[in-house]
Parts: sequence; C-alpha cells; structure tokens
Amino acid sequence: MVPNDETLFDKVVNLSKRRGFVFQSAEIYGGFRSTYDYGPIGVLLLRAVKDQWWRSMVQLRHDVVGLDASILSPPAIWEASGHLANFTDPLVDCRDCGARHRQDRLDNPEVCPACGTKGELTEARQFNLMFKTHAGPVVESAAEVYLRPETAQGMFVNFANVVNTSRKRPPFGIAQVGKSFRNEITPGNFVFRTREFEQMEMEYFVPPDQSEEWFRYWCEARRDWYLDLGIPSDRLRLRDHGADELSHYSAATADVEFLFPWGWDELEGIANRTDFDLKQHAEASGNRLEYNDPGSGERYVPHVIEPAAGATRTAMAFLMAAYDEEEVRGETRTVLRLDHRLAPYKVAVLPLSKKDELIEPSRVVLGALQPHWMCDYDQTQAIGRRYRRQDEIGTPFCVTIDFDTLEDRAVTVRERDSMDQERVAIDDLVDHLSGRLAH
Ligand code: GAP
Repeated sequence: MVPNDETLFDKVVNLSKRRGFVFQSAEIYGGFRSTYDYGPIGVLLLRAVKDQWWRSMVQLRHDVVGLDASILSPPAIWEASGHLANFTDPLVDCRDCGARHRQDRLDNPEVCPACGTKGELTEARQFNLMFKTHAGPVVESAAEVYLRPETAQGMFVNFANVVNTSRKRPPFGIAQVGKSFRNEITPGNFVFRTREFEQMEMEYFVPPDQSEEWFRYWCEARRDWYLDLGIPSDRLRLRDHGADELSHYSAATADVEFLFPWGWDELEGIANRTDFDLKQHAEASGNRLEYNDPGSGERYVPHVIEPAAGATRTAMAFLMAAYDEEEVRGETRTVLRLDHRLAPYKVAVLPLSKKDELIEPSRVVLGALQPHWMCDYDQTQAIGRRYRRQDEIGTPFCVTIDFDTLEDRAVTVRERDSMDQERVAIDDLVDHLSGRLAH
C-alpha cells in the first residue's frame, strides 16, 4: 500500500511519464506550463473515462441526447451567460517576489505563500478567466471571439434546436464531452488544474417545481458513478456549497470530491442553474427559449440541473485510486487495479519467445482478439518483466503463447490482480475473456 500523500502523487506523476499516460506539452522546447499531452496509454484511459460517462449519461437513458458544439464562440454568448462580467478570480501580486496568487486560495491573506513576505500583496484585481482571440485576418474588436470556458452554453443556445428535432420533453437532458479553456491564475497539481482541459457536462431541463427533486437525484447518481467504477467510498464524498461559494448562476451546488494526496478536492459540480441561462439567452437573442407542453398547452422556461465533471481530472483520480504496490517474491510489484472498463488495454498478447514459430500464432491470436478489445502486443524482454509492464498500466489479462501452444492449441491466461494463470483453448479464448471482462 502506498500512503495517500506526496509519495503517491510523485509515483503517479512518474508512472504517467514513464509509461506514456501523460507528457508535459512541448517538452522538447522546455515544456509549455500547465498544458499536457496524453500519450499512447493515457489517451486510452481518458477515452475510457469519457466512454463510461457517455454510456451512463446518454446510451443507457431514454431522456438524454448528445451534442457537440463549437469551441469558438461569439461574445454575445458570454455577455448573456454572465461570464464576461462574472467569470473572474481575484488576483493579487507580491511586490517582493512578483508571484501571482488567487486571493481566495491564500491561507493567510497578508502573506505571500511563495516567499513568505508579509504585507506586500497588492489589492485584489478581478481577472477574467476566458481566453480571447480574433476570427479572421483583422485584429479588431468586431472580430473578437472566445474559447469556451465551459461546454454548457452550447447546450443552452441549442435548446430550441434540440427540442424541435429530438421531440424530447422535460425532464430531459443534453450531454456533451469536449475541451474547455480557462486562463487559470494558479494551474497546478499535475493535470488537476490546467488551462486546457476536457469536461463532461449534462444540462437536465426540468419543470420548475421538480428542480429540487432532480438536483438530489443527480447528486446521488453521479456519486454512484464514481463508486461503481472503483473509487473507494472512503475517498469520495458529496459536499454542499455554502452560499458564499455559489457561482453567479447557481441556486444550489454540491461537489463530488475525491481525497487527493493534498486533501479533498473537486471532481464534479452538480448545480441547480434554475432558469438563469435560458432566460438570459432568450432576452439577449430575442428568441423564445421555453417549453410548450402540447398536452396542457402550458408554456414555461425549464429549470436546469447540471452535473459538470472534468474528464482529465477524473482520469487522474482513477489513476490515483488504482495505484498499488505489493511485495512479490522479494520484489515490489506496481499494479494499477483499474476497473476493467477503464483499463487502457484489456488484453496483452505475449509470445513467450521471439522465435518465428511463436510469432505467427501470436499474431493470429492478436487478430482474433482485436475486434473485441483494445489489445497490446509485446515480444521483447523476459516474460516476467513483460507481465510487470502490463501490471503497471492496469491490463487485466495477459495471454501467453508458448511452445506447448503449437501442440495443444491453448494459451496461458494470467489475471492482473491475483496473478493466477489458467490454460485456455484458443478456440474458447474470446468467450472466456468476454465472460471475465463483462460488466
Ligand atoms: N458548467 C459548469 C462548470 O463548468 P465548473 O465547476 O467550473 O462548472 C466543472 O467545472 C468541472 O470541470 C470541474 O468539477 C472540474 O472537474 C473541471 N474543471 C474545471 N476547471 C478545470 C481546470 N482548470 N482544469 C481541469 N479541470 C477543470
């Protein structure tokens, strides 16, 4: 067991680099601060997190549809949503060392946490977190556009389009997974707070008198999603926001928090956004954004419950929760005990030796498994080391092809957590693994 402190943090960061989960962006140029690239293993983990979210939020429901809205957006959206005026953090500078801090995150508002000097922090300035750029060749204010700081507004501005084309009626939701951008003053803790990140958000439109009931429903549903995918219950909690923490649009918010090595911190916010956004956009655009109930003839502006999660942040929480070390025959084995659904590779195919007679049947086995699962293939090094490499990236099953395979047309299947091995006929392999990987 690794203690849940900086030791775990450092180990996960090192593993991420060493095994190709996450690389510092633009590393060959010295690194571009606070942006990260997801490597061959990381992209699979991140994709699995997003797929699992989509599966539970869209695929397995009858009342939620998807959307993929643009990242570039006109100022009108952010004017109406309140982000131009309110999406700010209070920024202070230290006159002594020049460090910048978010005032609301300081332990002591008098003391610079970088150099320890007292009384040298400037008055707070409100700093808008949105990235602004220009569309087209002319850099002028008429061409200003913003990179979205949340995916949510895409769902609000498309509310009427979705209602008209999907025939959904409240309560129903619109879900989206995609990149968002925030010019964070203090990015940090690896991929926890970055300037470019991915969100998984759903806007759930409900009759106004049902908003409290749906708020509680989504708080519990979202907490259960993390538990079901393997976050231990003693490292996950729901925390209601105090009135002073609420965003400008929110009547109530609860965070799903994970016990990171630095303490409890947010994975997801579930907010009751009321009718704030639809009303704002209706007023600013001059379009009616209401639901017209064909049965009762009633017209109303739905209220919105929003579960808003971070994909990149959540992937890191799953990594931290899964990381384990144990002693095996006098050696330390690192193993990622990831839920099968999140494992980057589900199966690794490993010929026992590089001899041609084993390579060919190994490729045949690989070809039979690939249509079903993401598989790794590795013919280098001793088999024990190859098992360890797969344990480190959380591969649930290793399939080894040895010289007996040529006689009995069977392979050895080794399970990651128990390291138990069993002999399985090649003809039964897909069924065997399907049974063991099923959920
Ligand atoms: N639409 C509501 C909204 O965006 P939020 O709490 O600001 O709410 C939702 O963001 C989630 O997005 C957060 O819980 C977090 O997981 C993720 N997130 C926000 N800012 C982030 C950042 N700078 N880096 C990584 N993830 C971030």
